[in-house]
Amino acid sequence: MADSFSLNDALSGSGNPNPQGWPGQWGNQPAGAGGYPGASYPGAYPGQAPPAAYPGQAPPAAYPGPAPPGAYPGPAPPGAYPGPTAPAYPGPTAPGAYPGQPSAPGAYPGAGPAGGPTGPLPVPYELAFHGGVMPRMLVTILGTMKPNANRLALDFKRGNDVAFHFNPRFNEDNKRVIVCNSKLNNNWGQEERQIAFPFESGKPFKIQVLVESDHFKVAVNDAHLLQYNHRMKNLKEINAVGISGDISLTSASYTMI
Ligand code: GAL
Repeated sequence: MADSFSLNDALSGSGNPNPQGWPGQWGNQPAGAGGYPGASYPGAYPGQAPPAAYPGQAPPAAYPGPAPPGAYPGPAPPGAYPGPTAPAYPGPTAPGAYPGQPSAPGAYPGAGPAGGPTGPLPVPYELAFHGGVMPRMLVTILGTMKPNANRLALDFKRGNDVAFHFNPRFNEDNKRVIVCNSKLNNNWGQEERQIAFPFESGKPFKIQVLVESDHFKVAVNDAHLLQYNHRMKNLKEINAVGISGDISLTSASYTMI
């Protein structure tokens, strides 16, 4: 885990956007600040557990969330998610939440920790939010970029409108950039661009989108990336996130923290 860019740092900050990316003004926040239950360790939004060893995580170490024993689907291909295995999710450990390996047979009938299917999912995929989104809602998306990936997009939607478009582009005039925007009445607004780019073709990723009262806050692989001020203010009307692009999608879920 990157000490200076931890997600708790991100969580503890509610200040200005960080349009240029790393490490921004949250770099020196004390770990664990922010008052999120279970956030006893820097580097993670609490209440979440990955199905496998995504970068910067050690699944067996802790599982503070409400998942029942054996809640994680799908065998992870051996070695598919390399990376450091520091215990990113300590806190209270749910007994049996990680029954050894994620490939435990018979596990996981397709319901995530809270409100979302897990397992190999079709792409494009839509995760519905019944009742919309609200502050302290944490959406977690796990997947792997395809080789030679060109794009990925998350679209938090209100019907046909897009409240928050999060769009990593691997090759825009030979540059990598993340474009964020909103679409109202079929018109895109002003783009917010981010040059910090934590995605890699062929590699697994974890995206966490934390809804806060003024903005969406996005972390990738346990490091804060950006925030996007709400343009669509009625959060209750944001009823789904669409996930599309050149990825294999492992899981999409949400929980309250
Ligand atoms: C457009 C692109 C859309 C969306 C939008 C964001 O050029 O076609 O998919 O990414 O930019 O501003």
